[in-house]
Amino acid sequence: MTELSNETRFLHAIEMGLGAWQWGDRVVWQYGHGYSDVEVRQAFQASLDEGIRFVDTAEIYGNGRSERLLGQFIKETDQPVLIATKFLPFPWRFGKASFPRALKGSLARLGVESVDLYQIHGPTPIMSIDTMMEGLAECVKGGLTRTVGVSNFGQSRMVAAYSALARHSIPLASNQVHYSLLNRTAEKNGTLARCKELGIRLIAYSPIEMGLLSGKYSVDAPPPGSRGRSYISLLPRIGPLLKLMTVIGQDHGGKSNVQVALNWVIYKGALPIPGAKNAQQALENTGGLGWKLTDEEVERLDEASDAISES
Ligand SMILES: NC(=O)c1ccc[n+]([C@@H]2O[C@H](COP(=O)([O-])OP(=O)(O)OC[C@H]3O[C@@H](n4cnc5c(N)ncnc54)[C@H](OP(=O)(O)O)[C@@H]3O)[C@@H](O)[C@H]2O)c1
Repeated sequence: MTELSNETRFLHAIEMGLGAWQWGDRVVWQYGHGYSDVEVRQAFQASLDEGIRFVDTAEIYGNGRSERLLGQFIKETDQPVLIATKFLPFPWRFGKASFPRALKGSLARLGVESVDLYQIHGPTPIMSIDTMMEGLAECVKGGLTRTVGVSNFGQSRMVAAYSALARHSIPLASNQVHYSLLNRTAEKNGTLARCKELGIRLIAYSPIEMGLLSGKYSVDAPPPGSRGRSYISLLPRIGPLLKLMTVIGQDHGGKSNVQVALNWVIYKGALPIPGAKNAQQALENTGGLGWKLTDEEVERLDEASDAISES
C-alpha cells in the first residue's frame, strides 16, 4: 500500500458522509413532493449533530440548487464542514481552462473560497485523461480546491488519472463509484483493491441502493419515477438478502437494514455517502456508524448478494 499523502489523509479518516443530490433534484428525487428546503436543512443539521462533517454535492444537482442550499446551511452553522463537489464534462467543455472556470461557479454558489475535494463527475470521450488532470491540477495550484478526485472511473482510467496527476506532484484523492450490497462491481473488478493499494479513497455512492436496501420498496410498492423503472427486474430478487440483513441487524441490538447496508460498506473499506431527504433518514443513516459487523456476518451478506447477481 502506498503511503497516504498529507493532503489526502483527511479523506481516509472520514467514515461516512452525506450525499446532497436530493437537494433540489426534481427529475429523480421529486424535490418539492414530500420534502423541500425545510426538510433538507433538517437533514443537514441532524447529520451534523451526529458528527457527519463531509457533504458531497455537484454543480449539476438541482441545476446548482444543491450547491446553493449547502452554501446557505454552512453559513448557518459554526461547525466545520468539508465540501466535495463535481465538474460535469459537458461536451462544450473541452479545454483545461474549463475546470477552474466551472469550479469558480461552484464556489460562488457555495459561498466559499475553496472546496476540499473537486471531482470529475465521469469520464468523457471529448477530453483526454491528461487534459482532465491538467484541468484539475490548475484548480489545486490556483488554491480553489484542497484535493482532486474522479468519479465513475474504471480501474484503468483511474490508474491513468493517478499517473497523470503524479506528473504534477498531485495525489489522486478519490474515485467515487456506485457501491452497495446490490452493486459490487467495484469490489469484483478489482477497483476497490487498487484504490487501497494506491491510497485512493473509494467513495461509495448509492450505498443503500437508492432506498432499496431499506426494505421499504417491493414489487407491489416500487420506488416512484425512474427508480421504479430501473429496479423493476431487481426488486423481485432481493427478499432473501433483506431478510438476512434484518436478522443480522437484530443481533446487533436492532440495527435497521439501512444501518447494516452502510456498516457493510464501511467494513469493506469504502466511504459511504448516503443521501437523505429529511432528518429522520439522516439520523437513521448515521446509525450505520459506531459498531461493526463480524467477518462471518459479512461473509453471509456477500453470499446473499452473490445469489442475487447470479439469479
Ligand atoms: N458520482 C455519481 O455519479 C453519483 C451518482 C449517484 C449518487 N451520487 C452521490 O451519492 C449520494 C448517495 O447516493 P444516492 O442518493 O443515489 O442513493 P442512496 O444514498 O443509496 O439512497 C438515498 C435515498 O434513499 C432513501 N433513504 C435515505 N435514507 C433512508 C432511510 N434511512 N430509510 C429509508 N430510506 C432512505 C431516500 O429516498 P426515498 O425516501 O425517496 O426512498 C434517499 O433519497 C448522492 O446524494 C450523491 O451525492 C453520485
